[in-house]
Amino acid sequence: MNTEQQVRAEILEKVAQLYRLRESSRSFIPGETKVHYAGRVFNEKEMQAMVDSVLDFWLTLGVKGKEFIGDFLSFMGMKYGVLVNSGSSANLVAVSSLCSANLPHPLQAGDEVITTAQTFPTTLNPILQNGLTPVFVDTEEGTYNINAAKLEEARSPRTRAIMFAHTLGNPAQMDVIMDFAKQYNLYVIEDTCDALDSYYDGKLCGTFGDLSTYSFYAAHHISMGEGGALLTNNVALYRQALSIRDWGRACYCQTGEANPNGACGHRFDHTYESLPYGYDHKYVYNNIGYNLKPLDIQCAMGIEQLKKLPSFSARRQKNFQFLYNALKKYEEHLILPRSLPKAKPSWFALPLTVKEQAPFSRREIVTFLEKKQVETRMLFAGNILKHPAYRTIKHRVAGGLEHTEKVLQNTFFIGVYPGIDEVRLDYISHIIDSFMAPYK
Ligand SMILES: Cc1ncc(COP(=O)(O)O)c(C=O)c1O
Repeated sequence: MNTEQQVRAEILEKVAQLYRLRESSRSFIPGETKVHYAGRVFNEKEMQAMVDSVLDFWLTLGVKGKEFIGDFLSFMGMKYGVLVNSGSSANLVAVSSLCSANLPHPLQAGDEVITTAQTFPTTLNPILQNGLTPVFVDTEEGTYNINAAKLEEARSPRTRAIMFAHTLGNPAQMDVIMDFAKQYNLYVIEDTCDALDSYYDGKLCGTFGDLSTYSFYAAHHISMGEGGALLTNNVALYRQALSIRDWGRACYCQTGEANPNGACGHRFDHTYESLPYGYDHKYVYNNIGYNLKPLDIQCAMGIEQLKKLPSFSARRQKNFQFLYNALKKYEEHLILPRSLPKAKPSWFALPLTVKEQAPFSRREIVTFLEKKQVETRMLFAGNILKHPAYRTIKHRVAGGLEHTEKVLQNTFFIGVYPGIDEVRLDYISHIIDSFMAPYK
């Protein structure tokens, strides 16, 4: 008779066998096989970890979630973390936490948040969803990051926070941004969804501001399929974030916490305002929340992916450098990306802007690349104010949005993710050369 341990070991070995079988039949046919801009990079370890978690059949957030957030906090050198089901949810929880009535001086409807219109939609949406007013400043050529020199112009007596992404893994000018935030007592939310393992002045992106957010969607630096996290060193913000993720409940016990009287030991001992004495703390709500938890199965994958982050980052760096060098000779027609002297990016992708006087358009180059199976993407919304859903939003613009508009018109990106190997790199640079041949 087999023990459970033996059956599990057999199942996991079969999983590895299946992975190897699939891997051995994978081949690259130039012009036929798609060169994705991003994607999941995994082997039998992730598959086994996820199957093992399924066999546990805990399903909701539990032991794997606890291990993953612990590992992630250690890597980031941060104190508190809340796992969520996406980077978008992390942004929603971050902004909502700053609006929590449990804070001594929360953000209130009509307060202003400085951000960029060159954005991913869900970096902006939580500002609108919380009744706050976005104040848009322009981004900078080549870095595609918030122009820190424009912050002062954007400020008003209602300014309470700055929220921005480190665009495509390229660190924003954190020293200037943090000095400005400190001077005017503003909260800073770093959307680090595309910038895991990027550094500014020797410090990890996501460790400068009050709150930082991460995405573990399949396209990102590490993946759990879908997933995200919010990190902070501020215990009050952590408590609100946890509550808002978990239906708005006041109790901060973890799911399945063993102690029947709760982590605090006072589950049935309190009077909460007008609630009856001893009302179960698990069912006391002190925020208007959501349910944005990921599953333990996803976290099992996250644990394995995080171990591989150093090798993933090294490969991203190598791929970026290779393609950058291959593109350098076309600088007459294309604006190549740049990072600030103190920045050490872990690039999510390689952005390119077709120069206004170039003899070809963005549409022409991206359709050529796509036809040759090299995937491209726009720099997210380009200028979000031009999108149908945002036509009537209440907002302010500080200074112009000339560069943002240029991004909308002329920018795109190609991939550098670790799934792009030498053969694919050669193929991409060959295809770019063939597009550029008539324009030399
Ligand atoms: C800068 C930025 N923020 C937030 C998100 C949202 O992440 P998710 O897809 O996990 O919701 C993305 C998505 O790629 C992103 O690029």
